[in-house]
Amino acid sequence: MSGGAKRVAVTGSASGIGAATAALLARQGWRVVCLDRTPRASPQASQLPGEVVSMTLDVAVEADVCRVFADIKARMGGLDALVTCAGIYETTPFFETNAEIFGRVLAVNVTGTFLCLREGARMMERGARICTVASVAGLRGGGLAGTVSYASTKGAVLALTKNAARELGPKGIAVNTIAPGMIDTPFAAVPLSNPAIRTRVEGMTSFGRLGTAEEIAEAIAWLISPSASYVHGATLVADGGMVMY
Ligand SMILES: NC(=O)c1ccc[n+]([C@@H]2O[C@H](COP(=O)([O-])OP(=O)(O)OC[C@H]3O[C@@H](n4cnc5c(N)ncnc54)[C@H](O)[C@@H]3O)[C@@H](O)[C@H]2O)c1
Repeated sequence: MSGGAKRVAVTGSASGIGAATAALLARQGWRVVCLDRTPRASPQASQLPGEVVSMTLDVAVEADVCRVFADIKARMGGLDALVTCAGIYETTPFFETNAEIFGRVLAVNVTGTFLCLREGARMMERGARICTVASVAGLRGGGLAGTVSYASTKGAVLALTKNAARELGPKGIAVNTIAPGMIDTPFAAVPLSNPAIRTRVEGMTSFGRLGTAEEIAEAIAWLISPSASYVHGATLVADGGMVMY
């Protein structure tokens, strides 16, 4: 790992879990590259301590990902960590889901995660760490609010992460994933605005409540920290005791 402050790129940094993660890592002293498809890649970038850089990309567009990661390499010389939070939700019911809808979710949640992981790993050295973001939907096959396409893509992120761990482990790069339960972010705002869904999902947890973006950010920060040095190819479930598998 390089000397000086460690460098991390966070995708999906403009909202929710990605924004909370970028903010926490900046406070912990990381040099943070905020990546999102919205022009304001991190809402609070200007208020964060230390060096925080924002860049715009669509993670599902290979040329975008290659361009932005080449820019990171040119500006920062490489990366010590990557967190892939960019993702989209989809609630179209099973029999109404068509190939176009399925493909759109797949492109962002799976291909987008893979492309960022591939380009990020190219510029990493031994000791670097990657954390992807899956979901309990990938473990349970959905059943909260997201439906077939969403659950399928999050299951794919679990396998993608393990494959990357096989590939990158021998190079000294750790790869893990976090599987959050239902977290109160803009992402989940639409289904959670339905009191029946909110009450049902809260009742599925052992704590009787939803999680916060900050709680997931803390778990991600640990997964990319030296404290997790022997954790590799793992899925950290952070769901208030919903799955307990
Ligand atoms: N909120 C939850 O309940 C929950 C639960 C489990 C897993 N997750 C996962 O956590 C991740 C973050 O979710 P969140 O709740 O913070 O959502 P969010 O909607 O608050 O934030 C997602 C961010 O990703 C960005 N993004 C989406 N598509 C993109 C693209 N093609 N290119 C670049 N950026 C893109 C959005 O602009 C947004 O800023 C997602 O992968 C989601 O599947 C969320």
